[in-house]
Amino acid sequence: MAKAPLRVAVTGAAGQIGYSLLFRIANGDMLGKDQPVILQLLEIPDERAQKALTGVMMEIDDCAFPLLAGMTAHSDPMTAFKDIDYAVLVGARPRGPGMERKDLLSANAQIFTAQGKALNAVAKRTVKTLVVGNPANTNAYIAMKSAPDLPAKNFTAMLRLDHNRALSQLAAKTGKAVADIEKLVVWGNHSPTMYPDYRFATIGGQSVKSMINDEEWNKNTFLPTVGKRGAAIIDARGLSSAASAANAAIDHIHDWHCGTNGKWVTMGIPSDGSYDIPKEVMYGFPVTCENGEYKIVQGLEIDAFSRERMNFTLNELTEEQDGVKHLL
Ligand code: NAD
Ligand code: LMR
Repeated sequence: MAKAPLRVAVTGAAGQIGYSLLFRIANGDMLGKDQPVILQLLEIPDERAQKALTGVMMEIDDCAFPLLAGMTAHSDPMTAFKDIDYAVLVGARPRGPGMERKDLLSANAQIFTAQGKALNAVAKRTVKTLVVGNPANTNAYIAMKSAPDLPAKNFTAMLRLDHNRALSQLAAKTGKAVADIEKLVVWGNHSPTMYPDYRFATIGGQSVKSMINDEEWNKNTFLPTVGKRGAAIIDARGLSSAASAANAAIDHIHDWHCGTNGKWVTMGIPSDGSYDIPKEVMYGFPVTCENGEYKIVQGLEIDAFSRERMNFTLNELTEEQDGVKHLL
């Protein structure tokens, strides 16, 4: 029997990321090739944005996606989020050259307060939310705090792009396939303070750390390359990453919905106190997913260098989250 459609809201639907993301959701890449979807697309009321959204929807129509069971355009989150199963919150102002993601905090905080409230009011009680718009962790925290009637654990932030970037750097360094790398972690904030950690990573059961065996490379090349990759892309393209960001969003929700078969992935989630990260801080953790739920990988040893890096990114998050407390 055919599955009932799931309702997916995407904000910023006429933006760069939206243009890569929507087609792949409608194609079944996100929720499965047998899962019909209804797209509920939100853009700002501005006439140009709404017109651009109409154009994107015309193109989606022209793909004749068999899994697309409906699609609507919205300028108000209260209608866009009605009865949704998933929310992908992309719409926000992106940073330009010379800015840090946290410079966007005040511009974007209001958006995520309003959208959290709208989710609280009209979305399904089981709605699962991924925040992509930057600063993603703190925006997810704001949305979560603005939606007190929904389970806090269902609000997540995107660290998957960082995870994928780290996988690709490790594959290039070791000369092995990306698909063979397991047990990678990116701790903390989606910002240059993040801590991509390959101490537990393996390829075909062999330790990646011992294969590389070069702490200088880790500290002086790997960590800054992954941490500053977003800025490097802005510098090269003149625009922030879009197709790779959309791809990471697809990966994040796909794995949350369909499960990871025991594989570790990184998700930004409200801490449950694991690894001494204070409760509720929206922090990148290693997780496995099963039956629509994520579970933090427990029992990893945290050495002195790692603790220092984990605290550094935690402090930044705590500062960001303290900085928006007055809005909540
Ligand atoms: P963009 O400017 O091309 O598109 C953003 C769209 O959002 C625009 O069409 C805009 O009209 C819309 N928008 C703005 N406010 C909105 C609101 N309140 N409701 C609905 N729509 C709204 O930007 P983009 O390149 O698509 O990037 C979007 C966001 O994603 C930025 O914040 C960017 O920094 C972030 N991003 C995050 C990651 C990550 O890994 N977490 C990666 C790449 C980009
Ligand atoms: C990225 O990491 O590519 C995005 O967060 C965009 C940015 O501002 O870096």
